Amino acid sequence: MVSQEDGLTLMNEKNIDQKILQMFDMEEFRTNGHTIIDLLAKHIQNNIRGHSKVLNWQEPEQADLNWNEPLPEESTIDIKEFIKQLENNILEGSLAIHHPHNLGHQVATPIPIAALCDLVASLTNQAMAVYETGPSATMLERQVIRWLSQLIGWMNAEGVLTSGGALANLTALLAARQQKSDIWKTGKDDRKLCILASEHSHYSISRAAGIMGLGTDSVITIKTDIQGKMDVNDLKQAHKTCVNNKQTIIAVVATAGCTPTGSIDPLLEIGHYCNSNDIWLHVDGAHGASALLSSSHRDKLRGIELADSVVWDGHKLLYMPAAVSAVIFRDAKASFSAFSQDASYLFQGESNESELFNVSYRTLECTKKMMGLKLWATFSLFGLEGLGLLVDKSFENARLFAAMLSKHPQFSVLMEPQTNIVCFRHMPKGLAYEKLNDHQLGLRKRIIESGEFHLTQVKLHDRIWLRTTLMNPFTTQDHLSSLIKTIFCDLQDH
Ligand SMILES: Cc1ncc(COP(=O)(O)O)c(C=O)c1O
Repeated sequence: MVSQEDGLTLMNEKNIDQKILQMFDMEEFRTNGHTIIDLLAKHIQNNIRGHSKVLNWQEPEQADLNWNEPLPEESTIDIKEFIKQLENNILEGSLAIHHPHNLGHQVATPIPIAALCDLVASLTNQAMAVYETGPSATMLERQVIRWLSQLIGWMNAEGVLTSGGALANLTALLAARQQKSDIWKTGKDDRKLCILASEHSHYSISRAAGIMGLGTDSVITIKTDIQGKMDVNDLKQAHKTCVNNKQTIIAVVATAGCTPTGSIDPLLEIGHYCNSNDIWLHVDGAHGASALLSSSHRDKLRGIELADSVVWDGHKLLYMPAAVSAVIFRDAKASFSAFSQDASYLFQGESNESELFNVSYRTLECTKKMMGLKLWATFSLFGLEGLGLLVDKSFENARLFAAMLSKHPQFSVLMEPQTNIVCFRHMPKGLAYEKLNDHQLGLRKRIIESGEFHLTQVKLHDRIWLRTTLMNPFTTQDHLSSLIKTIFCDLQDH
């Protein structure tokens, strides 16, 4: 018998268009969910076992032709067809991130439970701008920020999760500028404001300077040493020059795990220098801050605690699905500076104290995803121990690969890796020096288009290097040997 309550629900549903009911049908959701999870599990398992190509290469112009359907006025496919397309076109056309031959970009091999958390975040759609639009989401974020702060060595820090490291860097630099200039409010500052950053700093730093209206020329490039680390003497010299030129430094940006080589700037020395000269130190640890998770590698970041702000990407060495980044400020109050020229009212009780819990005060984003859940779940389920193992494995793989390459006279390794990035050149006997750059480019192109391996390239001081990022915990010594063999086979074919 239908209860009165169920009867009312059924009556209400009668007034709703069938199509709408179908869109929100929870039974369908359950069934489709099982099918899609099964499909994904099979796909990722195949990738992990290396049973597929790492990339089914197609020229983008060609691929584009396949996605030129007319706008669907009505349903054009049913769920079965959707799942077929998902399997055959979308998953097959994706870069296989979990494949042990995927050695390209600094993109995490996501932990599956974290991806399920993203599903929860998507379906519950907590807007998060203010506390009431995501109460538990807000608390999860605060909890995660506290954990990351603790790892940095800060007890009273605060921060926010953003959709990516580029946005996090912009947020930190806006806050840094706020300490020295009123330009946010007045729109003008006659002084020359500048940022000092190493030549290997990520492009999001100079882009932030552009967005902030400082001009990308305001980023003064500091030289790096042979290991790709910021040269502190050059930093001191640049500081002196700025003082002489009456330029106002809003921040020094140190990079912990720079993009081209994974090198970590000497944070302790830079930190002491900045602290004693009243200069805001921002550490872009998007890539390398996760070394803090590992008892074997934590020391590489000594001095990070001297920073005023730190950026830390979850979707890199925290093994999260993209995107989730943390921007954390040593001084909790500074975490409100970026987007509010005078947030003191938040701290002085002039407004409702609960305003402090509205994350939108601290970030450019208004609506944003519940990003804390996946980090909270992963830390809670696997602990520092589990996450530390992933970091150890990737750093160890990089050390191993560099050692393997160094044994071959036909390879030149840029440097002993400090994190998990290995840059190398293939130097076949008899090939003229001026042809070496083209050789690396051709090699990479052929390898990625064959779908055997994925690797990247980087230009450093006019030389092109092949670049591998060892992120994948399933990559073994055999896979790395196989890359070396692939390079030799390529040589025979060309
Ligand atoms: C050092 C560094 N900073 C910032 C970024 C930008 O981060 P995201 O891609 O999360 O925006 C990257 C990206 O690779 C990076 O390597």
